[in-house]
Amino acid sequence: MTSPAVTPAATAWGANFELPPLGVGVGLRRPHIERVQAEHPDVPFFEFCPENYMDRGGRSRRSLLDVAERYPLVSHGVGLGIGSVDALDHAYLTRLKRLIEETGALWASDHLCWNRADGRSSNDLLPLPFTAEAVHHTAARIREVQDFLELPFLVENISTYTILPGAEMTEGEFTRAVLEEADCGLLLDVNNVYVNWRNHGTDPHEFMRAIPRERIGQMHMAGHEDRGHVVVDTHGAPVRDEVWALFRDALAISGPTSVLLEWDCNIPSLERLLEEAAAARAIYDDVTCAAVSS
Ligand SMILES: [Fe+2]
Repeated sequence: MTSPAVTPAATAWGANFELPPLGVGVGLRRPHIERVQAEHPDVPFFEFCPENYMDRGGRSRRSLLDVAERYPLVSHGVGLGIGSVDALDHAYLTRLKRLIEETGALWASDHLCWNRADGRSSNDLLPLPFTAEAVHHTAARIREVQDFLELPFLVENISTYTILPGAEMTEGEFTRAVLEEADCGLLLDVNNVYVNWRNHGTDPHEFMRAIPRERIGQMHMAGHEDRGHVVVDTHGAPVRDEVWALFRDALAISGPTSVLLEWDCNIPSLERLLEEAAAARAIYDDVTCAAVSS
């Protein structure tokens, strides 16, 4: 059992700031939470989705807080829509901050996307245009969120099914510019890099090399569905061999970090989830130990 005594995160990223590398954790999902509470599986950290708890009290929230007593937690949201043009939702941010404080989450993340316009919301994570205007707009909002939460904030590269016209730079250049102007970190979703490679022909290694390694605060690994003409980011299947291969390349760039296995639909047994995490851990140890000894 790993204790939750992990160094609290600083409130500003800064040139030399790095988040603690926690190893390979898993997403905390409702079908498993009672067993996690009762059996205390050997997992170095859990990631929770704040939208599943922010508006709930009672048993659900108590279960999360119980897990927080024993494990380091990180928060990974899906509802912020950080690149949207509509004003930031301060009621949402206030509820998020309260949950972060209650759980002692080490950092918070959401997606580098937009999801709202003219007061209407989309459940999809929509792609931003790769333009300087979008960099400045999004970075300013990330700074505002990070300052409000008083916690390191990571944005996640999303999987996309179209690239908006008018791009002035590659996705890697866009992402790097946002990270540096916002002074925030990246949640590098390796499966999303693979999905975009297949769907758009973009070079996954160009994307990963564009990111300053010290800004990679966490990684995601997940499964997808390959339909031949399109690859769909489902989080509902085992990680595929092609993504494991890309994971090795990503770890060689990042060094020790925190890796989170996402499995959000067709959720398997806790045993199967931990088996998949163990596969990730074997690669993680292989790559990061080899880097240390070389
Ligand atoms: Fe992800």
